[in-house]
Amino acid sequence: MESAARAKLAAADRVAVLTGAGVSAESGIPTFRGAGGLWEGFRPEELATPAAYARDPEKVWRWYAWRYRQVSRAEPNQAHLLLAELERMKGDGFTLVTQNVDGLHRRAGNRRLIELHGSITRARCERCGHRQPLPSADEFEPPPLCENCGERMRPDVVWFGEFLDPDLLARAERAFTTAAVALVIGTSAVVEPAASLGRIAKAAGAYLIEINPEATPLTPLADLSLRETAARGLAAVFPK
Ligand code: APR
Repeated sequence: MESAARAKLAAADRVAVLTGAGVSAESGIPTFRGAGGLWEGFRPEELATPAAYARDPEKVWRWYAWRYRQVSRAEPNQAHLLLAELERMKGDGFTLVTQNVDGLHRRAGNRRLIELHGSITRARCERCGHRQPLPSADEFEPPPLCENCGERMRPDVVWFGEFLDPDLLARAERAFTTAAVALVIGTSAVVEPAASLGRIAKAAGAYLIEINPEATPLTPLADLSLRETAARGLAAVFPK
């Protein structure tokens, strides 16, 4: 099975990849759901919402500043590096869609990258919409102020109850509709559009590979579902 998947991936001219928090687990960044995924007893649904921010912006910013420090100390792992290598092999036919906001795919070298949920390394002005990178984690004191208009800024991420950027979503869907091989790695596939992208690809005829130590709602659809960590699973199907 793994050799068949490797051959498919090697031959594919169009490859679409979706990643979730599991791909960064081996960089020491906790996932949202599952063991070690909590922060001071809060669930993400209680902090990553517009209502939570309106109620207590300082608390929400403290959570993001903590995560930003954590991400800044982390390094891309072997899974990130293999995905950067896959992009170099496939060129224009490659698209990486991530739900992660940690910026590790970019740091690993991926450029054909769609960060569907934004990035915690940036802030967005609450008044004028201007985006700017956060200062280095050592210097950062939340909340950041807009260099354009001086207003308070919010994390440049998509919260529960907010819409994804429609252009980014359309590009992601196009990549999964036209992919010969789709890889879904390290996502619980319970938050949309994670589940849909895999399903769209499969319905359009792609060969669907899932890599996750646990089964997910996508597992029954996959042509190959590897019960492996991201790095080991990717190495197992990576074109030689
Ligand atoms: N390698 C691969 N997968 C792993 C690993 C690993 N080393 N460790 C854990 N996993 C898997 C888990 O089995 C789980 O299915 O990663 C998945 C992580 O799931 P979630 O924590 O739900 O993360 P994700 O699917 O990315 O969440 C989606 O929900 O909270 C929101 O906006 C947030 O982007 C996030 C979205």
